[in-house]
Amino acid sequence: MKALILSGGKGTRLRPLTYSGAKQLVPVANQPILWYGIKSIVGTGITEIGIIISPETGEEVRAVTGNGDRFGAKITYILQEQPAGLAHAVKVAQPFLGDSPFIMYLGDNIIESQLESFLAGFKNQNLDALILLRQVSNPSAFGVAKVDASGRVLQLVEKPKEPPSNLALVGVYLFSRGIHEAIANIKPSARGELEITDAIQWLIDKQKPVEARTLEGWWLDTGKKDDLLEANRIILDTRIVPSVMGTVDDKSQVIGRVQIGAGSKVVNSSIRGPAIIGENCYLENCFIGPYTSIADRATLIDADLEHSVILQGAKIERIQQRLVDSVIGRRAQLTVALKRPKALRFMIGDDSQIELV
Ligand code: TTP
Repeated sequence: MKALILSGGKGTRLRPLTYSGAKQLVPVANQPILWYGIKSIVGTGITEIGIIISPETGEEVRAVTGNGDRFGAKITYILQEQPAGLAHAVKVAQPFLGDSPFIMYLGDNIIESQLESFLAGFKNQNLDALILLRQVSNPSAFGVAKVDASGRVLQLVEKPKEPPSNLALVGVYLFSRGIHEAIANIKPSARGELEITDAIQWLIDKQKPVEARTLEGWWLDTGKKDDLLEANRIILDTRIVPSVMGTVDDKSQVIGRVQIGAGSKVVNSSIRGPAIIGENCYLENCFIGPYTSIADRATLIDADLEHSVILQGAKIERIQQRLVDSVIGRRAQLTVALKRPKALRFMIGDDSQIELV
C-alpha cells in the first residue's frame, strides 16, 4: 500500500497567503497543514508516500518537508505542471504508484479519525474504491454522494445545485489500481479539470465495487480563512500539551494549556490557553487569549489578541483594540499610533504592512 498526498493546486481561496507560499504549508497550531496528513498516513504503517507538487510552490514544500526521515517515511516528490484536477494528479503519479493500491489524501485536509479502520475495510472487501463521507449543511459546495443502505455508492456529483444527499466527500480516498483505467476513460469537466468524482463514477457505472464510510469525527478542509481558524481552534483544543521552554517573567501569567517554544520571552503578559507560541518570539505587555497560534520569531508588544493565527516573523505593536479572527502573514507588520475603537478583523498577506496612524 502506498500513499499519494496532493499538495499542488492553485490555492486561490487562501489568497493573499498563497501568493507567496504553499497553502499546505500554512501552519495550524504551528505545524504545516500537510504534516498532519503525513503523520496520520505513517500512523497506519504506510511509509511510501508520493507528494504532488506544483512548479510554483513545490520547492518550498520539498524544503520544509524533506525526504520523510523526520516522519519515518520515504517521500517522493511528483511534479504536476498544471493544476488540472485531482484525477490528473493521480495520472501524473502513475509511475510512482505502479500497480499498488493507495490512499489519496488532499494536502489541505485534516481529519480526526484514525485511518486504520478505513484501510482494513478497503483491504478485506477487495474494493476498487472506498470513499469517506461526512454530513454537511451545505452539500452544494462539495462533491456529494448518494449511497444505498449497505454503504454502496450509487452516484457522485461535483458541487451539485440540487444535491442528492447531504453527504460530502471528505478529502481522503482509497483506490485499487483499477482507478488508473477509470481515469484513462474520462474527459475533463466543464471547469477543465479531470475530476476524481468522474473517475469513481466510471467505476460505479462499470459495476465495480465502490463503497463509502461515514466519518464521525471532525474533518477540516483548510481552503479558506475561517476554515483555517477553525482547524487551529480544534487542533489547539485537542492536541496541545502544556510546556514552557522559553522564559516567562514574574509579572506574567500563563493559564491553561499553553506551549511556549525555546528562546521565546514573555514579559508582563497574560496568556490564556489553549494557545501555542513558537520559538524565539518576543511578547511584552500582551494579552493572548484562547485559540491563538503564534509562529516562530513573531514580536508582539502592547497587543491583545485571541482566536488568531500569526505567522513567522510577524510584528504587532500597540494595537489597542483586541485582534480577533485574524490571520497575519509572514513578516507582516501592524503598528498603531492612535486609539481606535472595538475589534479589527484582518486577513493580511505575507510581507504586508498595515499602519494605522
Ligand atoms: P482544491 O483546494 O480543490 O484546489 P486548489 O488548491 O486549486 O484551491 P482553490 O480552490 O483555493 O484555488 O484542491 C485540494 C487539494 O488538492 C489541495 O491540497 C491542492 C491539491 N491539488 C493538486 O495537487 N492538484 C490539482 O490539480 C488540484 C486541483 C488540487
